[in-house]
Amino acid sequence: MKISIFGTGYVGLVTGACLANLGHIVTCVDIDQNKINQIKQGSIPFFEPNLPELVKKNIEKQRLLFTTDAKAAVESATAIFNCVGTPGKEDGTANLTYIFTVTKTVAEHILENKHITLINKSTVPPGTAKQCQDLISQTNPNANITVISNPEFLKEGAAVYDFTHPDRIVIGTQKLDSNNLDSFEQKQSNINQAIQTVKKIYLGRTRLYIPFIETNWETSEMIKYASNAFLATKISFINEIANISDKVNADIKVIAQAMGMDYRISPKFLGAGIGYGGSCFGKDVRALETIATQNNISSKLLYQVDNTNKKQKTIIVDKIKNYFKEKLDQTLEGKTITILGLSFKPKTSDMREAPSIDIIKELIKLEANIQAYDPIATNEARKCFTENELNKISFKTNILEACQSSDAIVIVTEWDEFRTLNLQLIKQLTKNNIIFDGRNIYEPELIQEEGFDYIGIGRS
Ligand code: UDX
Repeated sequence: MKISIFGTGYVGLVTGACLANLGHIVTCVDIDQNKINQIKQGSIPFFEPNLPELVKKNIEKQRLLFTTDAKAAVESATAIFNCVGTPGKEDGTANLTYIFTVTKTVAEHILENKHITLINKSTVPPGTAKQCQDLISQTNPNANITVISNPEFLKEGAAVYDFTHPDRIVIGTQKLDSNNLDSFEQKQSNINQAIQTVKKIYLGRTRLYIPFIETNWETSEMIKYASNAFLATKISFINEIANISDKVNADIKVIAQAMGMDYRISPKFLGAGIGYGGSCFGKDVRALETIATQNNISSKLLYQVDNTNKKQKTIIVDKIKNYFKEKLDQTLEGKTITILGLSFKPKTSDMREAPSIDIIKELIKLEANIQAYDPIATNEARKCFTENELNKISFKTNILEACQSSDAIVIVTEWDEFRTLNLQLIKQLTKNNIIFDGRNIYEPELIQEEGFDYIGIGRS
């Protein structure tokens, strides 16, 4: 099938490459000519395992094309994925400008006598698909376009795998009222055709017996927000339990393990630490809270999930401050703190809402100097700090350099290489032997056996 993808960001590029790999002819469209040129030459603007290989392979097979020519991309396509960004605005709502611009473009350029299935993949508030369908009618009353909601659930760092092995594929369509519409039969037939088109697109995936959920637009749009908000809630919940555990001599890792054995709870997303970051959880929880408020529902739960997470990001700074005060009778002024890991999670260079930003800024406020190391996110990280802050941060190219003459080591992102630290070597480099483990990747006893103090999250 000929498919066009609007937006070559995270969701768009992964979707495009994966669909091309299923055998479709995919054209990826972006307004940024430089970005398109770069991707054509095999340079992916972000780090994602397996994606560069997939892009290269499908460019070579001539199934994956890149262009800035939106008109041609609309004219040639049977199905179009809308994968542009929906960044959070100051007031918490999602910015839908790019979504509507693409919708209008498709309505303007569709050829006569043609039907296009327009698939909204970006995370959008309930009601957006309806607004898109209305916008199409206003822009071009003759345009035969059916809007479908089909949210993507991929995780950064595992995006290609998630796309090819989804737990479910959600398809949201307009539910027509048969009593209330002149051209009911024609419209229903277009919707049926659009559903079949989406199913055909994913045919390679359905061989894995992945369930399709067919529902109305708004339910589909809410499924994405509800899923992300629930996962974020699990994390904030376990972090609150961890903070209590710290005070009552309990171990959060054992608590989470035992809780996870209850199949109703499941062990996933019960990893306590310094909070969630990334482009989705924070933005989506705040957007859902705003949607609740707009509908006169006060969602204190969603507010608190976000609030707990904000506080959790810097809880480790309090632990560092207290350790220096209580154990060494010192402040952090002039101390050198090693930060291991900058990206919001491993296997990505993404720094959006990364806890490392808040932690480093707080430490700098306390007059500490920072030696930071991340395997791939350093360039992105530099953009997150002011000139004054950058003067206090020294970005290093390996773990040992980052630990040289350091007063404390803080594990911020659980990259694999931090799981096997050579502590005996590090001991010779550092001034104090203390590890703050923001991701609970170590067992306290093992670190203590190596002659280090250990402070985790909820490990008392
Ligand atoms: C998330 C959703 O998982 C995905 O379905 C959606 O499409 C986009 O948002 P992503 O943000 O890429 O994906 O990463 P994810 O692996 O979900 O982690 C998000 C954050 O939660 C990370 O900062 C991670 O460190 C944190 N996290 C995750 C925890 O703190 N504890 C856990 O147990 C799990």
